Amino acid sequence: MTTQHRGLFIAFEGGDGAGKSTQAAELAGVLESRGLLVRRTREPGGTPIGEKLRSLVLDHGHGHIDARTEALIFAASRAAHANQVIRPALERGEIVLTDRYIDSSVAYQGAGRKLGTGAVRDLNDWATAGLQPDLTVLLDVDPAEGRLRRTAGDAAEDRLESEADEFHARIRAAFLDLAADRPENYLVLPAHLPVTELAKEILNRVDALMLARQGACQLAGQGESP
Ligand code: TYD
Repeated sequence: MTTQHRGLFIAFEGGDGAGKSTQAAELAGVLESRGLLVRRTREPGGTPIGEKLRSLVLDHGHGHIDARTEALIFAASRAAHANQVIRPALERGEIVLTDRYIDSSVAYQGAGRKLGTGAVRDLNDWATAGLQPDLTVLLDVDPAEGRLRRTAGDAAEDRLESEADEFHARIRAAFLDLAADRPENYLVLPAHLPVTELAKEILNRVDALMLARQGACQLAGQGESP
């Protein structure tokens, strides 16, 4: 797929408790220390309307939310995020690191909720006008291990996290299928590796990507006046 922006778009994906935010923060720190402009963001959320949708869809207490409604709420939040935040940042040449993107909907709503991965993918391609990450880092986590990690310290589970292990196993398999379909756009790593090792692998891949795209992409920050 041809890249139509100057920046770099990297998504972090994986089951709950995989450690995506830790790795996004590690990578952001290194890239910022090189003077590059980095925008860290997340889904659901990333815009004022998206944050409202986030609490609607994740918090307990809004009554029953059927699977199609859930998929549309995630897609609405993503439409705002992609069109109002991510694409403009990429056009300015920034590096965008998002904690979750389309693959989360394909895995959670398409496979987890059994809405069908193709239908959910089409919905989200429409919502984002086809905006795809240049690289997706998939932190592969065993569902039982993920549950242990996220409930450490008695943290409460949200609506999706509190689903059965079988639901999370379907999600894991769907993420791995997505990566297997387009291996050139994915870096798949076992989430149980030490944080520093994961960070090193991710940085190596991002460096290789930036090198390969030199000329085609013009990253903002380094060497530019503010
Ligand atoms: P996340 O923000 O990663 O959770 P936390 O910050 O609490 O670790 O994601 C919230 C939940 O929403 C998570 O269980 C995955 C789910 N989710 C979907 O089901 N579909 C989606 O499209 C997205 C973005 C998230």
